[in-house]
Amino acid sequence: MTKKMMDGVGKFARHYPANVAIVTTRTENEQDAMAAAWHSCISFKPPLLGVSVSPKRHTYNMITESKKFAMNYVPSEKSIISAQTGGVSGRDVDKFEMFGLELKGETGLDLPVLKDAYAAYECKLHSVIELGDHHWFVGEVLFSHYDEEAFSEGQMFLTDKVSPTMYLGFDHYLLPPKCESTHLERSKLPE
Ligand SMILES: Cc1cc2nc3c(=O)[nH]c(=O)nc-3n(C[C@H](O)[C@H](O)[C@H](O)COP(=O)(O)O)c2cc1C
Repeated sequence: MTKKMMDGVGKFARHYPANVAIVTTRTENEQDAMAAAWHSCISFKPPLLGVSVSPKRHTYNMITESKKFAMNYVPSEKSIISAQTGGVSGRDVDKFEMFGLELKGETGLDLPVLKDAYAAYECKLHSVIELGDHHWFVGEVLFSHYDEEAFSEGQMFLTDKVSPTMYLGFDHYLLPPKCESTHLERSKLPE
């Protein structure tokens, strides 16, 4: 293979595939959901995660107002939810109604948690860092939801039970057959 180098980053897509989260939030009057591929865990103690949201998004204004959001992780066979919530704005449509997105009844922070999610985190807004054309919304996870069957002992993702929504950029998604996982011991220095 020929390894190339270029200036800058182009479409910022060569590190894909990336796990997509559906970011949901609710104010007193409305709720919204948007797909986000730019997100990460940040800290265990306290449990912090971050998601990069453009100020152009309705979600941006709503989280700024509500000071809370949920990160919903849906299985690959529901990748359509990413394309749906990532295509139109909550300014113009009620995405929950339009796409028939069902919600879990019981939540900790009165946030919309998707029934289709195999995992979801409810966060209170910790801070916002204004970086470039997207801003980094940091959330502190106060409640977690998960599908018992998707995880071994409630923790480790079972790849024979569920596969995540993985974005490839350019409106393409990875639709894996059920992948297998393998345990690879981390390298250690001899004692
Ligand atoms: C797969 C995918 C990933 C996306 N990732 C992000 C992201 O990380 N941050 C962001 O601000 N927008 C992202 N978007 C765009 C928003 O989801 C999209 O603009 C959405 O319509 C915003 O909805 P809202 O105006 O209701 O908030 C993504 C879209 C798709 C389809």
